[in-house]
Amino acid sequence: MAQSHIRPESAETGGLPQKSFLRALRGEVLPVPPVWLMRQAGRYLPEYRATREKAGSFLDLCYNPALAEEVTLQPIRRYGFDAAILFSDILVVPHGLGQKVWFEEGIGPLLDPITTEAGLAQLRPGLQRKRLEPVYETVSRLSHSLPAETALIGFAGAPWTVATYMVGGRSTADQAATRAWAYRDPAGFQKLIDILVEGTIDHLLAQIEAGAEAVQIFDTWAGALPEQEFARWVIEPTRKIVAALRASFPRVPVIGFPRNAGPRYPDYVEATSVDAVGLDTSMPCGWAREALGGKVTLQGNLDPLALVAGGEALRGAASAILDTMAGVPFIFNLGHGIVPQTPPEHITELVTLVREKR
Ligand code: CP3
Repeated sequence: MAQSHIRPESAETGGLPQKSFLRALRGEVLPVPPVWLMRQAGRYLPEYRATREKAGSFLDLCYNPALAEEVTLQPIRRYGFDAAILFSDILVVPHGLGQKVWFEEGIGPLLDPITTEAGLAQLRPGLQRKRLEPVYETVSRLSHSLPAETALIGFAGAPWTVATYMVGGRSTADQAATRAWAYRDPAGFQKLIDILVEGTIDHLLAQIEAGAEAVQIFDTWAGALPEQEFARWVIEPTRKIVAALRASFPRVPVIGFPRNAGPRYPDYVEATSVDAVGLDTSMPCGWAREALGGKVTLQGNLDPLALVAGGEALRGAASAILDTMAGVPFIFNLGHGIVPQTPPEHITELVTLVREKR
């Protein structure tokens, strides 16, 4: 059955979603939690490597709607996850703002770094939706091609995390250049964050308009900041993004992922008013359940390395999470993305365990 573009379910069911992933996001406790995995499309899958080869560069793949659709669907075909995440990258936003971005084999992303307020001149005034049109076309195609029970997640990087790449020019272990700018010249750095808040809102709205049923905001490097800076550069920009999305699409759930935020998770949840939070691997599930269970949907948080190991390590870790999260709104996931050395058959085993345990 063909699905209409915008949140087909609310039209069909008088506002009550049937897809288990969306039900969990609305706060329902389900007997079997929905499951999807961050980086579920990627190099651990032979079929991804084959499509990637065909596409050319990584960005060519992100901007090729037919191939990006294909790699989004690959893990759904194999595992029947409850949600698909658009295949794209957080760095298409700086690219859409006019920064030079490319991916180098064996290194990862490289950008022409912007380290001062004067450097902001290399950006265009707003997100060039035209440059990102192929991404929205991928979303639109997926909203028609996914199985009826599979929800579609759009995403963006949070301004702080995206800024660490724009300023550092690459992945950095400690985000030092970005933290240094934020201390040296907070007013100038605020301008970069403001540009990213606007661009990210625009990018997420375009994905929702094209058919994304929920969105996730990845703040991979949130944990690098001390309390005051966390409030200013993680919480406040995310709060603005969530508020803007709600103003246009009040029923589209937002998942925040402030990785490694530790005891600051409750403040983040309270201040941003996200519908769900992704728990990173370091977060004790019992603590998260005490502090947040029932206030927001919790998502997480199996160690990606337990998935690599498989066997008893995988079964024990996954079962402990399922046991602790029983009785609160919950979505099973990893605490960070799947790593390339993951044996694909371990994921089959994990999905069976999540679905058959209860
Ligand atoms: O399946 C999915 O999760 C959807 C697609 C997705 C990708 N990146 C594809 C990708 C998503 C949601 C992301 C998010 C992303 N990208 C984040 C936030 C989440 C996280 O992992 O912390 C970040 C920090 C990036 C930036 C980025 N993209 C880096 C640092 C790298 C290089 C490191 C690496 O894993 O290779 C990428 C490349 C990238 N993005 C790949 C994929 C599948 C691998 C590239 C390849 O095929 O060569």
